[in-house]
Amino acid sequence: MKFQRVLLGLIAASVMAMGGAQAAKVKIGVVLPYSGGAAQFGEQIDRGMNLFIQQHKGAFGGHEIELIKRDSKRPGGDIAKNAVQELITREKVDLLTGFVFSPNAMASAPLINQGKVPMVIMNAGTAWIPSLSPYIARVSFTMWHAGYPLGGYAMNKLGCKTAAIGYTNYPPGKDSRNAFTTGFEKAGGKVLEAIPMGGPRQVPDFTPFFQRVKNAKPDCFYIFVPAGNHAVAVVKTYANLGMKGAGIKLIGPGDITQDTKLQDMPKEAEGMITVHHYSADYKTPVNMAFVKAWKAAYGADTTPDFMGVAGYDGMAAIAHAITAQGGSVSAEGTMKALSGWSYDSPRGKITIDPETRDIIQDSNVHKIVSKGGRMMVEVIDTIPQVKDPCKANGIGKCK
Ligand code: PHB
Repeated sequence: MKFQRVLLGLIAASVMAMGGAQAAKVKIGVVLPYSGGAAQFGEQIDRGMNLFIQQHKGAFGGHEIELIKRDSKRPGGDIAKNAVQELITREKVDLLTGFVFSPNAMASAPLINQGKVPMVIMNAGTAWIPSLSPYIARVSFTMWHAGYPLGGYAMNKLGCKTAAIGYTNYPPGKDSRNAFTTGFEKAGGKVLEAIPMGGPRQVPDFTPFFQRVKNAKPDCFYIFVPAGNHAVAVVKTYANLGMKGAGIKLIGPGDITQDTKLQDMPKEAEGMITVHHYSADYKTPVNMAFVKAWKAAYGADTTPDFMGVAGYDGMAAIAHAITAQGGSVSAEGTMKALSGWSYDSPRGKITIDPETRDIIQDSNVHKIVSKGGRMMVEVIDTIPQVKDPCKANGIGKCK
């Protein structure tokens, strides 16, 4: 991997910002997939982090930050855990961030407890992860921000009385299945079957799973896959099997209609309903400025997606925590600084919930539309300022 160590001299603004106090150097360990099939996620988050840093040189209170990057490669947990061990013991990082895949954050939790190093999660969405350590805060989402409200929406607004579920068989997939099932059954819906569809590492052939669902004839087919190439394959299989024509509505969290993948999807994507907290197509001034800056930095043919915005907002959270602690970062100090922290993000208002250390944000209902030959997200409904429903309702491991 190139650029493993990135020193960002932010001293220039320091003297004025700190009123003469000593500038500190803060070491931030970044654990992301930088190679293999998931490298596209690492790149999104990396770009989001870098865009924030470029735009907000003064936001770090004049302290110098050093990003020490490590490649977590796979979702398995082992490589990320080794990287975290090395970052804590050898590099003596003050703070850890990144973490696309839930198992990687989970496997690292005991180490951050022992080392008392705070972790700001930029993706990994399994709801109960923060309960593994008091030093975890999350700026992304939980699987329940989308799955649970979509359960109610499918029944009440989409008229789906029955549903089938397909999910990638690892912790966030099971969590997403539980979130949708809870919301859907609470609204009176009936889940006909829930099908595990392989692991996160490789895109499976979805055909046999989808054929089973087609035969069961549910009104809605709810799917969680970990975005990326999985999502494109999902919509292609749905199209190839003629499931749209058979009257089965394809729904899920916004991971299956990721901004960066929308243009690779067949026309059958049109009409899909997903729930999520971000799309590059949001027409707010903050988001339009963010997308414009992104394209200027990385190319007109690039777009941020929910991972990019998490990298951006995560760095905003880290900048706030560093500044609030005067550059002397501790686990307790970071959690205190992030508790109740609010930010005007490109996705809308976000707050770190002081009770759960998880994010509070709008869950938006997205409809995929085709305009001028481009697949786009249209926001058709909003559930404002959602606290993780798994913890709010004390369900399962969230008790
Ligand atoms: C996760 O592993 O928690 C995860 C990965 C990719 C997603 C969502 C969740 O799109």
